[in-house]
Amino acid sequence: MNNEQFRAAAYALIDRIVTYREELASKTPPVLSKKEPGEILRALPTVAPEQPENLAAVLQDLDEHVFSGVMHWQHPRFFGYFPVGGGLASVLAAIVTNGLGVIGLNWQSAPALTEIETAVMVWMRDLLGLSSAWNGVIQDSASSSAVVALICARERTTAYSAAAGGLQAESTALTVYTTAEAHSSVVKAATLAGFGHDNVRLVETDADFSMNTQALQAAISEDRAAGKRPCAIVATVGTTSTTAVDPIEAIAAIAVREGIWLHVDSAMAGSAMLAPEFRHYWQGLESADSLVVNAHKWMTMAPECSFYFVRDAEHLVRVMSTNPSYLRTDVDGEVINYRDWGIPLGRTFRALKVWLTLRLEGADALRQRIRRDCGNTAWLAQQVDATDAWERVAPAPFQTICLIHKPLGLEGEALDAHTLDWCRQINNSGFAYLTPAIVGERWIVRVSVGSELMEREDVEALWEVMRKTAEDSAHAHTAKIIS
Ligand SMILES: Cc1ncc(COP(=O)(O)O)c(C=O)c1O
Repeated sequence: MNNEQFRAAAYALIDRIVTYREELASKTPPVLSKKEPGEILRALPTVAPEQPENLAAVLQDLDEHVFSGVMHWQHPRFFGYFPVGGGLASVLAAIVTNGLGVIGLNWQSAPALTEIETAVMVWMRDLLGLSSAWNGVIQDSASSSAVVALICARERTTAYSAAAGGLQAESTALTVYTTAEAHSSVVKAATLAGFGHDNVRLVETDADFSMNTQALQAAISEDRAAGKRPCAIVATVGTTSTTAVDPIEAIAAIAVREGIWLHVDSAMAGSAMLAPEFRHYWQGLESADSLVVNAHKWMTMAPECSFYFVRDAEHLVRVMSTNPSYLRTDVDGEVINYRDWGIPLGRTFRALKVWLTLRLEGADALRQRIRRDCGNTAWLAQQVDATDAWERVAPAPFQTICLIHKPLGLEGEALDAHTLDWCRQINNSGFAYLTPAIVGERWIVRVSVGSELMEREDVEALWEVMRKTAEDSAHAHTAKIIS
């Protein structure tokens, strides 16, 4: 593709993206893609084109198979999983990044990539209310951040064993503590970091799904008595299923007393800390060792953009650094080389998303979005609490409500079938999208408020449709039993 062909295609595509966003804003497409499994694959040629195709034909295929071949995460009635960043300022940044065609291997390979990352991580540290003791870097995901955190924990406990025989040379097993409510990436990270599944303790939770700190202390003491070495705790502020909040202050006190690494996973709910009224959920965080907040979830930035903060950047660099001759430069002593702050060598210009978003929209817009979404969530929680047969199964501290519709007499598997049925009906209708999940051994429905275009009227419309669908479905079920 030459420059002029690029210009023509880019203008056409920008126009198409704008039309797509306009269609979403007017709630035109069904939230769930109507494609059948295999339909897109069958429509594509089985061999790659040898010769260039005409732009118009390619754009038409994009329309038919791509724009309508995805779930519409940016739809105002997308209530599934979690809000995903699609802010247009960050989309512009992605275009610039790819337009530059650069990669950061060291400072010299793209000085702006490094220095804008340094600047925005200081901005974000301040905006999230963290002290200046933290240093941040942008990783691709919370999952990678968890791997880095647990490797750093392992290296601290073993006095840098990786430089010699690694975990294989250790005489006692190292243990990691989290809960069954933690994201699946935590156990995966522990396994990848070499701890082994058998050495991950899933600490008991309380009725609100948060970590029970007495059980944590007991598990640590038990492991010590059995000759194991407690190494890391992964606590979550805003768990995936219910957005439960582990008590960071009490957990941090245990971590400090026991000399254990504390990683705090705030991938989803960390964005709320842009608003100071939510920061009490981070009480005690200043004693943690590492923290992750995904800006590509509720903080508007297009994926991937995950903020990883550490207290001891020197330790991080010691664990992660590589220094092959071909990457050395004359200025290495004066600059930051972010390749030494994580796993990949070649780093993309993710910081540009943050920089352009903050410059073009301002931090207050991000903060107001958090307040809007939490206000809408509180409204929905009030409706659920005030309506017969509807129950919330967990507190809703941020933007997710976990609920069930429980008609009189429906229990156990019959209740599960009812929950899955009304949720599926709404999803298949295309009106809205919700995620069912198992919480406390029962199916529930998660309502995740907060896609960028979602306003109060969308939450009100969802509530009306949920009530009608679930209540009609329960009546139909009762009528069937009676007949
Ligand atoms: C609490 C929590 N931690 C971690 C993750 C994983 O995030 P990522 O996809 O960036 O690895 C999620 C994703 O939903 C999450 O909710």
